[in-house]
Amino acid sequence: MAEQREKVVLAYSGGLDTSCCIKWLQDKKNLDVIAVVGDVGQEHDGLEKIKQKALRVGALDCLVVDMRQMFAQEYLTKALAANAMYENKYPLVSALSRPLISKHLVDAAHKFGAKYVAHGCTGKGNDQVRFESSITMLDPSLEILAPVREWDLLTRPDEIEWAEKHGVEVGATKDSPYSIDDNLWGRAIECGVLEDPWAEPPTDIYTMTTDPTKAPDEPEYVELTFARGVPYAINGNQKSYLGIIYELNAIAGKHGYGRIDMVENRLVGVKSRECYEAPAAMALILAHKALEDLVLEREVLHNKLDLEQTWARCVYNGQWFSPLKEAIDAFMASTQRCLYGSVRLKFYKGSCTVVGRKSAYSLYDQSLATYDKGDTFNRSAAEGFIQIQTLSTRTWAVNRRKEGAPAELFDAQNQQGPLKRGRYEDVTPLWRQAEKPAANKETE
Ligand code: ARG
Repeated sequence: MAEQREKVVLAYSGGLDTSCCIKWLQDKKNLDVIAVVGDVGQEHDGLEKIKQKALRVGALDCLVVDMRQMFAQEYLTKALAANAMYENKYPLVSALSRPLISKHLVDAAHKFGAKYVAHGCTGKGNDQVRFESSITMLDPSLEILAPVREWDLLTRPDEIEWAEKHGVEVGATKDSPYSIDDNLWGRAIECGVLEDPWAEPPTDIYTMTTDPTKAPDEPEYVELTFARGVPYAINGNQKSYLGIIYELNAIAGKHGYGRIDMVENRLVGVKSRECYEAPAAMALILAHKALEDLVLEREVLHNKLDLEQTWARCVYNGQWFSPLKEAIDAFMASTQRCLYGSVRLKFYKGSCTVVGRKSAYSLYDQSLATYDKGDTFNRSAAEGFIQIQTLSTRTWAVNRRKEGAPAELFDAQNQQGPLKRGRYEDVTPLWRQAEKPAANKETE
């Protein structure tokens, strides 16, 4: 009887990297490979094809798992509750799918009795951290392998050569200069010319969104209706959250809304230039925030804004299954209990604007807000309120003006800011002065 090999469960995409991983894990690590292909709503031309490829390359088995419903229900509801935007800009597209895929990898490892779990991430990005942190939190006894981090195929041509030598089909697909990761919540594009943060992104990197200059000339209105913070109807038609995300990706994408071009801080300490398109995610977060503005009590809202940052950083950093993230989710869930109502959005040539919001739980009180007739606000109470509110800083201001106090201790206008010292050229760091154009020098 043939000797039983240990098993490894590999997150498989069908691309060159993870295809080489299958072969490499067999050859170098002497393991049987179980591939797991997750459908998280990415663009693909057939998951069955991907499965067949995994089997041809030599996988013992390949599971194709439709994760979309769970992605929407478990992950994207929480992301929306937290209005999740890393560094205030990035709606965490990839960061949200990694823990979900990890969960299925761990499940498969248990099902097949695998001792190892593997992924095809490089050693420089966030995704390796997310996979490994998630897997470890779900089952600390599993051992993790990261072939791409370990092998010495440093360039694309090296990898293609290795693949051809080891019978891994390279495929006729056009070799994109970009690294792309996409799902229901959006699409991340990096590498190639985008590595120069000064270079404008080529228009053809985007596939979910129309070029805003070519978007329809007529604006389009969309009404979203929410219950407990989750949308359940679009333009009055009830739909699953998943269905609403698909529909909004199409509408917002058609109007060229949801593109992001940013430099972000990776967990591993590298700044990287990233382009994203996230039409539905951006529109949903915008609408959701508009409803919260109406419904949440001020102190809850203000504290929520702080916690939203923490939540996004936590998830970006691979802490989806951590106790901190779970605790913040409990806070978020509490804030969503009364989040019922509707928001009206207007899409037009790359923009999305909130043009209306209403809720049975609205705290907006027109008789308090109005400057017209019917005002019930007690303006005589404002005077005493301001006296007490300013008492502490008034005491400070009086003290600093006592005789003999040096002016710069209290007078912000006297502080020497860099721009007050002279022309802005003067603040150019010394090491940059050499870079000044010569023509400039002559005119000085
Ligand atoms: N920078 C983004 C993130 O860390 C996107 C990563 C995309 N991954 C990829 N393999 N292209 O979430």
